[in-house]
Amino acid sequence: MKIKMNRLKNLIKTNELEGKRIIVTGCSYKPIEHVFTNLIDGDLSHDSIFVESEEMKINIGTATAFSLAAKGATIHMVSRSIERLENIKKAIVETLNISPKKIEYSQVDLLDEDEVKNFVYEIKKDKPIWWYQSIGLGAGAYKVKNDNPYLHIEDIPTELLEKESQIVLRGTHILMKALLPIFKNQFEKFGCETRIVIVSSMSAVRGYALGGTHCAAKGAISRYTNAAMLDFYKKKIFVTDLRPGAIDTGMYDNEFVQKSILEIDDEYNGLWREKFRLAPPISVGESAAQIFTNSGHITSLNLVAEGQFPHEGS
Ligand SMILES: NC(=O)c1ccc[n+]([C@@H]2O[C@H](COP(=O)([O-])OP(=O)(O)OC[C@H]3O[C@@H](n4cnc5c(N)ncnc54)[C@H](OP(=O)(O)O)[C@@H]3O)[C@@H](O)[C@H]2O)c1
Repeated sequence: MKIKMNRLKNLIKTNELEGKRIIVTGCSYKPIEHVFTNLIDGDLSHDSIFVESEEMKINIGTATAFSLAAKGATIHMVSRSIERLENIKKAIVETLNISPKKIEYSQVDLLDEDEVKNFVYEIKKDKPIWWYQSIGLGAGAYKVKNDNPYLHIEDIPTELLEKESQIVLRGTHILMKALLPIFKNQFEKFGCETRIVIVSSMSAVRGYALGGTHCAAKGAISRYTNAAMLDFYKKKIFVTDLRPGAIDTGMYDNEFVQKSILEIDDEYNGLWREKFRLAPPISVGESAAQIFTNSGHITSLNLVAEGQFPHEGS
């Protein structure tokens, strides 16, 4: 195995997002239970931080917090674990050598309307606020059997069908409604547009037999995002649907998920039995930085690992 290139430490620092406060939800990490390597150079496909000397795989929200902090933004991270948020803050500040003042965090249950209202009331409004939404089922939001949402139709518990769509849609809509009055005012107040990125998934646009819950849930958030984009662009609020493929955040570490993924890949090119193909979380962070700094409006962005089935639509 190759020595891992430290992609987080090597992020190029710029000031392109200086003066923006970006809310990044779903920031977390997981212990490493399986190690995957990239198809092309054999480098490790996860990005990691150390928590009390234990190496942890970072997820999409955390990687994005790193990428946007490197571009000079003030980051406001959100999840339900204050301890994990504090550890992520420490890792970002130490790795990127930036001021701790630029990394803020709040413990918020995004399904709780009162908590969300309070969070939006309390957040500092001295800079334009932008938003990156990356919540999912992970980290105990709802216990999926074997942590595997990729199931044949006959095996899908009805509750999972409801929960997977409901958590992400409800958590997004509640925060959207709470932030909208701020967003609508930002052009007048600061003379700048508002940008929003919502993470759905490639599973929103391509189908597979084991996608009865996952494709349905990702399709729902993707269509919601599309409606928001069409509703808000007239108000100088620009929304992007970011659709990652398989990303090495730990969700593929367990054998049940791996077995399902191999079955899914068999419907495409069937190459994963040779080698799994997962993109690093920082690749999604880099895409977010591109979307937030682009002088145009990127309406949607699809991203897969090198060598993952790149099919859009099934
Ligand atoms: N990993 C992939 O391969 C992949 C690919 C495409 C799309 N995606 C999607 O991208 C998103 C992020 O993926 P990930 O792998 O980074 O997932 P993850 O590690 O499971 O992160 C999901 C985050 O959502 C947070 N969350 C869940 N319910 C919440 C609530 N009620 N309030 C506040 N936070 C809540 C969790 O935080 P706490 O539990 O700590 O509060 C957790 O940090 C998900 O929607 C996922 O489906 C992932």
